[in-house]
Amino acid sequence: MNVPLLPMLLLAGAATAWSATPRELAQSYTAEASRLIPGFQGSAQRGAEFYARRFAVSSHLPACSACHTDSPARIGRHAVTGKTIQPLSPSAVATRFSDPAKVEKWFRRNCTEVLGRECSAAEKADFIAFATEGT
Ligand code: HEC
Repeated sequence: MNVPLLPMLLLAGAATAWSATPRELAQSYTAEASRLIPGFQGSAQRGAEFYARRFAVSSHLPACSACHTDSPARIGRHAVTGKTIQPLSPSAVATRFSDPAKVEKWFRRNCTEVLGRECSAAEKADFIAFATEGT
């Protein structure tokens, strides 16, 4: 039986507390994106632009930076509840991008709020490349 590996890994990740490294997660989003965009490679530069971009969907949550500040290496503050959010960069918080189910859950929630849709695999790969830059 010929079962595609990547969906299996993603399914395993969604169903259990499968742990990964940021590099493995970025690789799996890159592989997913390259099925639509042949030769796709994640870009920290595009990730930085994506992170700062203001989308016209929500006036109080226009961008990722609305809660995560101008830099994913800094401590954030939830724009609605005022709660502290630890930095997204693994250089600051070692457990970031290590739990695929958690990462997917927050991408889904935050992207839907900010972009009005889920983020694409390419956007996720670029974002992780940016947030892990220098690690
Ligand atoms: C409304 C505030 C808010 C906005 C806007 C927001 N986030 Fe978040 N984000 C959070 C909170 C709250 C958490 C979960 C708390 C935590 O993990 O510290 C989180 C967690 C995450 C995580 C989980 C990382 C991990 O491995 O633990 C990712 C990835 C993430 N956000 C990406 C984004 C991206 C990309 C955007 C822009 C599209 C964005 N966020 C916009 C509040 C926000």
